[in-house]
Amino acid sequence: MRLLVTGGAGFIGSNFVRYILRTRPGYSILNLDKLTYAGNLENLSDVESNPHYRFHRGDICDVEAVEALLHEPVDGVVHFAAESHVDRSIADARDFIRTNIQGTHTLLDAARRARVPRFVHVSTDEVYGSLPSGKAAHEEWPLQPNSPYAASKAASDLLVRSFYQTYRFPAIIARASNNYGPRQFPEKLIPLMISNALEGRKLPVYGDGLNERDWVFVEDHCRAIDQVLHSGRPGEIYNIGFGRPVTNLEVVRSVLRILGKPEDMIEFVADRPGHDRRYALDTGKIERELGWRPEVDLEAGLVETVEWYCAHAEWIRKAKSGDYRAYYEKFYLNRSASLAQI
Ligand code: NAD
Ligand code: DAU
Repeated sequence: MRLLVTGGAGFIGSNFVRYILRTRPGYSILNLDKLTYAGNLENLSDVESNPHYRFHRGDICDVEAVEALLHEPVDGVVHFAAESHVDRSIADARDFIRTNIQGTHTLLDAARRARVPRFVHVSTDEVYGSLPSGKAAHEEWPLQPNSPYAASKAASDLLVRSFYQTYRFPAIIARASNNYGPRQFPEKLIPLMISNALEGRKLPVYGDGLNERDWVFVEDHCRAIDQVLHSGRPGEIYNIGFGRPVTNLEVVRSVLRILGKPEDMIEFVADRPGHDRRYALDTGKIERELGWRPEVDLEAGLVETVEWYCAHAEWIRKAKSGDYRAYYEKFYLNRSASLAQI
């Protein structure tokens, strides 16, 4: 199979590229990524000499570039590229509207014209909005996004749906809960808390810290996407989550305990505007239809994650300072790639 993966230099995308190259011999991947602040090619330094992998810097909103890439035959598109951080969308949603909505449309349109036989759109549980206590969103739950980020993802989901309904374009939507694991940019809760704790800085917890998220280990998510890609039904939606929402405070306390740091490093700060209180997913459909189940429980996943960050202090330093950009300039500047090369 030849896959076009968008956003493969980001957190989940880079874990997915590595997962496929490791578990699916003979598969080839072209990684299309714009390299925004969230794209870090060092995330893939261990696979860059793999003959089945190529990187192409490009923007999913660029119609000509996307159409040119899809001119070569491809067996599937896995679409991760997005602006992904809720706080940034609250500060300014412009890039979110552009990449998440226009970019998804550009990709869908080019893939439809190129008759791409499978398209997985990576979406999020945030499209369902905040869930009442005791409830878990199934795939037909109403869309009630509350942040500009979530609204842009919900809009992209509706475009994907419309391409299936209108053109029978074989797209599938995967909606995952909060991911965590190695190589997550240290603006998101878990890597921010780990890196602050390692640097002896305060750990900023929004509001009362009792907002709940359902943390799924990134490799479990990648395995689910792989199964959706191969066995998911076109036009369907699949929720992906661990199934046990926990409060932010519990997560932050666990991080501190694993690191052997005191709880008084926690500092309660002003709440996020429109902060969703609780996310919870019903994952029965993917379990029944595709046999997927999460394998990594939160405690074990947090230990592995904390250990990874402790062993990669230089990765954190570069991510926080912006020095990771030098990697692209040193090894990739003015290089391009196409599906024909993989
Ligand atoms: P990320 O921010 O770490 O990475 C996003 C990647 O997309 C980066 O490499 C960036 O350079 C690239 N990108 C951004 N705009 C682009 C554009 N216009 N053209 C090409 N590339 C572009 O994101 P992530 O956390 O890895 O999330 C990946 C996907 O999964 C997103 O669609 C996100 O909505 C979804 N998701 C994330 C989570 C999570 O907890 N992180 C959970 C559920 C779903
Ligand atoms: O649910 C899936 C979503 O998870 C993805 O779609 C998003 O791309 C991803 O960023 C993530 O969104 P969240 O807003 O849930 O993740 P974040 O790590 O930003 O925050 C997790 C929780 O922790 C949330 O309740 C806000 C809180 N928080 C976050 C930060 C950065 C804090 O209390 N302090 C912080 O400094």
